[in-house]
Amino acid sequence: MRLYPPAAAIIRETLHAIEIDGYQLPEGTAIFLSPYTLHRIPEYFPAPDQFDPERFTLEREKQLPRYAYLPFGAGPRVCIGNHLALMEGQLLIATIAQRVIFDLVPGQTVEPDPAHNLALRPGGKVDVIVKRR
Ligand code: HEM
Repeated sequence: MRLYPPAAAIIRETLHAIEIDGYQLPEGTAIFLSPYTLHRIPEYFPAPDQFDPERFTLEREKQLPRYAYLPFGAGPRVCIGNHLALMEGQLLIATIAQRVIFDLVPGQTVEPDPAHNLALRPGGKVDVIVKRR
């Protein structure tokens, strides 16, 4: 959810002209907010490319600024499926992982493709071998 947030971009449109961080934005400007990029800012996430679930212990998560981590967006349009998605995600992974093991077929590089799909997914196919436990 941090490194590969399914919603890699959140889009807004300015209702009136506004200056943000020195940029003059006329009315009607489309703004792409990128959780994918935001979640990799080293100031908030040291060694940003490393998968480290310990970043999200209660103590450490409290130190994050409110909008540094937003896989479900934020504000009035925040995802209403947030809690359902987290619960079903954990149940699905636990249920599947109890039964099978996925192994990546060697020799592949899996790269996300944030440009062509609404939800983040790999740019090409991903071949895996599924083994029963
Ligand atoms: C990992 C799973 C999910 C992710 C990462 C995700 C992410 C997001 C994000 C980032 C937004 C905000 C979009 C914006 O601000 O423009 C959003 C909105 C929304 N999501 Fe999700 N979502 C997930 C699962 C779900 C599920 C399971 C449901 C419903 C059962 C759901 C229903 C919605 C709805 C209805 C909105 C629009 C809310 C509004 O505009 O008021 N999402 N989601």
